[in-house]
Amino acid sequence: MIDAHCHLNFHSFEKDYDEVIKSAFAAGVTKIINVGTKIDSSQKAVELAQKYENLYAVIGMHPHHADKLEEDWLEELEKLAKKPKVVGIGEVGIDYFSYKSNDVINPKLQKEVFIKQIELAHKLKLPLQIHNRQAGKDIIDILINYKSRLLNSPGVFHCFAGSLNLLKKALDLGFYVGFDGNITYNGLAPGEDTDLKDLAKYTPTDRLIVETDSPFLAPVPKRGSRNVPEYAIITAKFIAKVKDITFAEIEAKTTENTIKLFNL
Ligand code: NI
Repeated sequence: MIDAHCHLNFHSFEKDYDEVIKSAFAAGVTKIINVGTKIDSSQKAVELAQKYENLYAVIGMHPHHADKLEEDWLEELEKLAKKPKVVGIGEVGIDYFSYKSNDVINPKLQKEVFIKQIELAHKLKLPLQIHNRQAGKDIIDILINYKSRLLNSPGVFHCFAGSLNLLKKALDLGFYVGFDGNITYNGLAPGEDTDLKDLAKYTPTDRLIVETDSPFLAPVPKRGSRNVPEYAIITAKFIAKVKDITFAEIEAKTTENTIKLFNL
């Protein structure tokens, strides 16, 4: 079992990341991909990857930070991307959801920052981890425009949400599809119109990836508590039921997919 997207580099894990990582490996998680959202958390992800054998880093500038960039952010990111065990560029993308803590960032800036990181991923031949919230159309338009810059397996739509049509387009472009603990929640998230369970059902098993997005989105029955990488197992069991296949099959297939995509 692999947790292909978490944030052990965030404050929430400052005091006990060592315990959390060891506990995940003891529970049957074999590899963990830790993801940055700006320069300092990307730096932290790179450092953590040096410390643990089966821990990897994905580094990038999240769209939430697109209006607070230092002038040299892209150079800094490129330097980090060349460090050992950096396996992808993320999480990058576009977010049009209006959060309590964070209003929608200027779409033009978000798109520019996303495109620059598509170019960086192309230059370094790294896959993308895409963050999309309510911005599927603009993301797909950009990806189609920059198709010549994408790898054959261009990356993963992290924590997938959206319409069936968006899912089909992402699959057509060769992307993998990541599902997280929120697939275990009943009902639809604000602004969404398609049940995540239906989207997972539609996604071919050889394109599925399991993630936690720890410390966020803990799956039922842990919902409301801090999420941790070992809960990837809970989510994988849930997805197995949704797809009416065995947990062993989901575990084997999603592990294989993640290793292939990120060249682990
Ligand atoms: Ni995340």
